[in-house]
Amino acid sequence: MYVPETFWASLERAKRRPGEIDRETILSLMEGSVNIVARDALFQAADELRHRYMGDEVHLRGIIEFSNNCVRNCHYCGLRAANTGLPRYRMSSDEIVATAERAARLGFGTVVLQSGEDPVWDAPALAEVVHKIKRRTGLAITLSVGDRSREDYALWREAGADRYLLKHETADPELFRRLRPGTTLAGRLTALRHLRELGYQVGSGNIVGLPGQTLSSLADDVALLQELDVEMAGIGPFIPHPQTPLAAASPGAVDLTLRVLAVTRLAVPWAHLPATTALGTIDPEGRQKALRCGANVVMPNVGPTEYRPLYQIYPGKICLSEMAEKCLSCLGRMVQTLGRTIGQGPGDSPKPRFQQRDNG
Ligand code: SAM
Ligand code: SF4
Ligand code: FES
Repeated sequence: MYVPETFWASLERAKRRPGEIDRETILSLMEGSVNIVARDALFQAADELRHRYMGDEVHLRGIIEFSNNCVRNCHYCGLRAANTGLPRYRMSSDEIVATAERAARLGFGTVVLQSGEDPVWDAPALAEVVHKIKRRTGLAITLSVGDRSREDYALWREAGADRYLLKHETADPELFRRLRPGTTLAGRLTALRHLRELGYQVGSGNIVGLPGQTLSSLADDVALLQELDVEMAGIGPFIPHPQTPLAAASPGAVDLTLRVLAVTRLAVPWAHLPATTALGTIDPEGRQKALRCGANVVMPNVGPTEYRPLYQIYPGKICLSEMAEKCLSCLGRMVQTLGRTIGQGPGDSPKPRFQQRDNG
């Protein structure tokens, strides 16, 4: 299959000025990489940039899914409120803190506390948990609990939260409105701005392969990540859940997800990019493939195994019954096979280092 000249020109441009690629270049890289030769060249460029900016360490983030209650009705997600067949759980503060302490003992430098949008976990209660984890473990703490007020974000930041993960999901405002009833892309972007103003390390990202999504809108996703200047970007394939309105839709393709991931490495070279659990779910080699084309993070679950089957965002999730110790040794082997090492410490974004150098 013919690779348009514009692809090679775009790749050269992106390699010369990583972090400063325009939308047309992003789109041309995505379109051209449907060809296997072009795709391999793109993946190699992304892997080289990952090595240059992030090094060879693969950072582990221990994820604690502390509540599967959610007031929202996102069309793609199994935790949506309308899924009345799903038994709901909510971990107690003591359970969450004890889980984080266990993660610290296992050597994790950071934990991610994630949940549905659960108002029962009000801001002061979650602030207390954050504060306790910080005081007792010193771990870097990421929150991922959805859209909340600026005041809530500020309280958690004061309590010791360092990072916040709020994926923009899709940069197409109409698709966003349709798939996340009652919310808008503009509102999500306002929340991301608040997080930035409050000094969080900001993570965002998008789903790949949503019904109605185009290559052009995926190019907008990557351009938006660059504009937001994110410290982290989660990019994973859509996986249909049977108890949602999108039950009959096709899943996102592995190849396309990897291409979006690789282009994202060119657009935000200093951002942490996880090899997502969703990729590992639709392809047994998915995470390894991602680590070879730009990714440098893996997020194993460190929460109690009894709750994991209930945090059913999508079906078939991997590592539902494996204890954190087992995933740790599995990931150690995976990383070693790739000739890389497991990162130590909190694994902060190296962005300030590079941007200071650029400004100076
Ligand atoms: N409730 C918070 C939020 O929406 O930001 C955090 C938890 S939510 C379960 C975490 C992520 O799951 C979302 O950002 C979304 O990208 C992802 N997700 C939900 N359903 C999915 C699906 N069917 N396939 C792939 N990813 C999905
Ligand atoms: Fe709730 Fe997040 Fe799932 Fe939407 S994606 S239904 S906000 S848990
Ligand atoms: Fe959990 Fe491999 S990462 S068993």
